[in-house]
Formats: sequence, structure tokens, C-alpha cells
Amino acid sequence: MQLDATTIAIVGSGYMGGGIAQVLTRAGARCVLIDTDATRAETGHGRVIADTRDHVARGYLTAEQGQAVEANLTWSGSLADGVQGADIVFEVVFEQIDVKHAVLRDIEAVVGDDVVIATNTSAIPIGDLAEALTRPERFLGVHFFNPATLLPGVEVIPHATTDPALPAHLVELLTEAGKEPAVVADTPGFVCNRLQFALFKEAARMVEDGHAGPEQIDTIVRASFGFRLALYGPFAVADMAGLDVYASSYTSLERALGERFTVPPSLAARVADGDLGIKSGGGYLGLSEAEATAMVAARDHAYSELARLRADLDGTAS
Ligand SMILES: NC(=O)c1ccc[n+]([C@@H]2O[C@H](COP(=O)([O-])OP(=O)(O)OC[C@H]3O[C@@H](n4cnc5c(N)ncnc54)[C@H](O)[C@@H]3O)[C@@H](O)[C@H]2O)c1
Repeated sequence: MQLDATTIAIVGSGYMGGGIAQVLTRAGARCVLIDTDATRAETGHGRVIADTRDHVARGYLTAEQGQAVEANLTWSGSLADGVQGADIVFEVVFEQIDVKHAVLRDIEAVVGDDVVIATNTSAIPIGDLAEALTRPERFLGVHFFNPATLLPGVEVIPHATTDPALPAHLVELLTEAGKEPAVVADTPGFVCNRLQFALFKEAARMVEDGHAGPEQIDTIVRASFGFRLALYGPFAVADMAGLDVYASSYTSLERALGERFTVPPSLAARVADGDLGIKSGGGYLGLSEAEATAMVAARDHAYSELARLRADLDGTAS
């Protein structure tokens, strides 16, 4: 409803810029891919069109979505020309703060005061990037994951002085584009990378300590909690498993492995209050009894469907 009335300029026509362009244009937005010169921008545009045709041929996209990308996507080798008429400008250039600062300054010099500016940075604090702008209130992080065309999640990251109305606006547009956005704080690694890197560090430590090899760890993660995580987040899993079970497990781990496995204070407090998750009518997600019952009832069906999908994909996905 709103996307087809929205024009978006994407500065940086590389891997992520192209993916973001496909996502937005297939949902009806008009997008201009901009790069440092016409050759790069045209190449980036050509790559999106070729990928889109391939995705339609493989059945990842409908023919209508493919046509929408081709109709709605253009390119420009000039920042000043490319941003004309844009409601939102996405900065998707190299992950270097000085390059991003220069590009953000250049963008602000050629757009009107009411144009929203978003960055797809992976790890640079949004507040640090905002320092380049004279109107930082129109700026926020909108972090797509790779490949943007297929991964549903998007982190929407306001910094300290972002206009409070902006995150909800971006969430609405991203939801309309079929994404699953969540507003998260401007903290190091945001949500995804902080959790992903915490897991990798512990996995690497197990390899370094000789407890299991990379192949064994990958097998167990894919086939145990990683299997669950394809459908449920860590809080849904904990609420279903039982918070008392989690607290006891942390106590054993802390005894053997030390302080990094101390029971999280919020978990200890819940268990002390008798909140054991769904089984006691509580839990981190605060689901009603009916919602919790529905989630548990849906779980086994979801897991059996996921097991079937894994079997179908066997040999190609792992
Ligand atoms: N690749 C990933 O897995 C991934 C995932 C999430 C976020 N990101 C983030 O997305 C951003 C882009 O990453 P990428 O993988 O698409 O990089 P990329 O190297 O594929 O593309 C960057 C593009 O920016 C262009 N560019 C550089 N300076 C420019 C300027 N001044 N004006 C216009 N265009 C300019 C380059 O020519 C290039 O086409 C980075 O901030 C990265 O951290 C990447």
C-alpha cells in the first residue's frame, strides 16, 4: 500500500545493495541503484535483473514479482541525479567508517530535509555514523542479512537522536515487503551478530580444548538446538523447555566452566518467583495460556514439517 508510493535510492550497487533493491522493487517500490560511476551502477543493475530472472526460473519468485523488479528498478552513476524524488536513501557502500561518513555527507548535501537516510552497516555503531550528518534525526540503521533476497529478518536500529516515529515507519515498509523486522538497540553487533559471534566463540573454544571437532559440532548444532532455532527464538525455546531446567543447567555449567555460565539474573529472579515458563503460566514471552497452548500444539507439526524439508534437501543444504 505504501511501498508502491515510495521511491528509494540505494547508494552502493554491490552484493547487498542489489539484494535490497530486489526485495523492495518486487514489492512495488521504485528504486534507483547508484554507484560511483555509470559502469558500476549499470553492472549492479544488470546483476539484479539476471538474479531475479534466475529466481523466477527456479520458482523463488513469482513471474509478477520478477516483472515488478524489471519495471521498478533503474540505475544512476550520479548521486545527485539518482536521489531525485527519493523518500528514503539507503547507504550500502563499503564497511569503512571514513567511506560511509563521506557518502552520508554527500547524500545529505543533495537531498531535502525530510528524506530518510538508512545505513546497512554490519557492525559500525549507528551513532558513530550519525556524526557525519547535520540532521541525524532522519537517520537509522536498517540491517538486512545476506542474502537479502531470501533472509526474512531485518534489524531496525535507531540511534540516540533518531526521530522516534522513524523505526515504526521502516518496520511498516519492511513488513509490506515481506520481511520480519525488529527494532533493536544501537549496541555492538546489534542482536544477530552479537549472538552469532557468542555462539561461534564457544564453539571455537570447544575445538581448541579438544572437546569436539568442527564437523561434530556442526552436526549436533544443525540437528539439535539449531533445528529448533529455524522456527523459534531462544526465549520461546526456554519458555517451552522450562526456566527451572535452564537455571539448573547453568548452575552445573558454572561449577565446571566458571563465571561465564553464571545463571542470568533475570532467569534466577523468575525461577525464584515461581515462573518456570509455559508450564507455570509464565515465561519471558508473557504468552497467555491460550497462546502458549497453541504454540506447543503447533510445535510438533512444525518440527515434523522441518524434518521432512531437511530430508528433501539432504545432500544440498549441508
Ligand atoms: N555482504 C554481506 O554479507 C553483508 C551483510 C550485511 C550487511 N553488509 C553491509 O552492507 C554494506 C555493503 O556490503 P556489500 O557486501 O554489498 O559490499 P560490496 O563491496 O559488494 O558493494 C559495495 C558497493 O558500494 C560501492 N561504493 C563504494 N563507495 C561508493 C560511493 N562513494 N558512492 C557510491 N557507491 C559506492 C562500490 O562500488 C560497490 O559496488 C557494508 O556496510 C556491509 O558491511 C554486508
